[in-house]
Amino acid sequence: MNDAYLNGRFLPLAEATVPVLDRGFVFGDGVYELVPVYSKKPFRLDDHLRRLQASLDGIRLANPHSADAWRELIGTLVAHYDADDQSVYIQVTRGVAPRDHPFPQNTAPTVFMFTQPLVTATAEQKAAGVCAVTAVDYRWQRCDIKAISLLANILLRQQAIDAGCAETVMLRDGFLSEGAASNIFVVKDGVLRAPPPSRLMLTGITYDVVLELAQAHGIAHEVRALAEAEVRGADELWMTSSTREIMAIVTLDGVPVGSGVPGPLAQRMDALYQTFKREVMRA
Ligand code: PDD
Repeated sequence: MNDAYLNGRFLPLAEATVPVLDRGFVFGDGVYELVPVYSKKPFRLDDHLRRLQASLDGIRLANPHSADAWRELIGTLVAHYDADDQSVYIQVTRGVAPRDHPFPQNTAPTVFMFTQPLVTATAEQKAAGVCAVTAVDYRWQRCDIKAISLLANILLRQQAIDAGCAETVMLRDGFLSEGAASNIFVVKDGVLRAPPPSRLMLTGITYDVVLELAQAHGIAHEVRALAEAEVRGADELWMTSSTREIMAIVTLDGVPVGSGVPGPLAQRMDALYQTFKREVMRA
């Protein structure tokens, strides 16, 4: 089954290989996207393609494809894969060149995609919620670029795994930035709060959808810098991403968040999100 695409060719993932001097391999010099697909329809694809463009602009790499060409390539990959719900990974690197830091001249970028079944949380997992730990966000100053060089995110996320938890909530200079692989929302006294988009976090497509749904359904919400004390004193804490959707964090650093179970607003937002997804699929 052709579950991958590499530089103009659809092929099985196991057969997709790149030369070791690909700058993605030696430098982490590239960007990526992860697009959830529901019932064979890519969710919010235009937003993902816009963010891909922003990431490419951020690393000064020309986009190898127009938005229409991307839509076509992704559509072909998705159509030929068995699963209805998929997660499509897209990566563009600065290509293969002798190892030297300066941008290579006249080098074609490497374009790689693969798809796999999208596994979202079960009702039981949602009802249980997850635990998280906090850590100082020591990443660089361009976390808005969805860069493949994820070493800091990996080390930070592993702190959560080592503690038997799902996610690391990152704090920079005493303020919430995001999760190691998700955005973080805070609920206090019925008000949903999220940090404002900046270069210090990746603005998730899920983050945008959650705020749109809050707006559309009259849920009080604020987008502003959130101090560590607000995170620790939250009634509810959520992590959001294309693969985790909306997941309640029920303990933080071993301390129960609010009542220690997924809160009412998390459950409501998850229901709104699931309905919204279904509407988009039907459209
Ligand atoms: N990551 N922030 C970071 C650092 C992330 O890695 C992600 C998602 C998000 C949420 O973005 P979105 O809602 O668009 O998925 C925020 C993906 C899922 C990954 O790296 O696998």
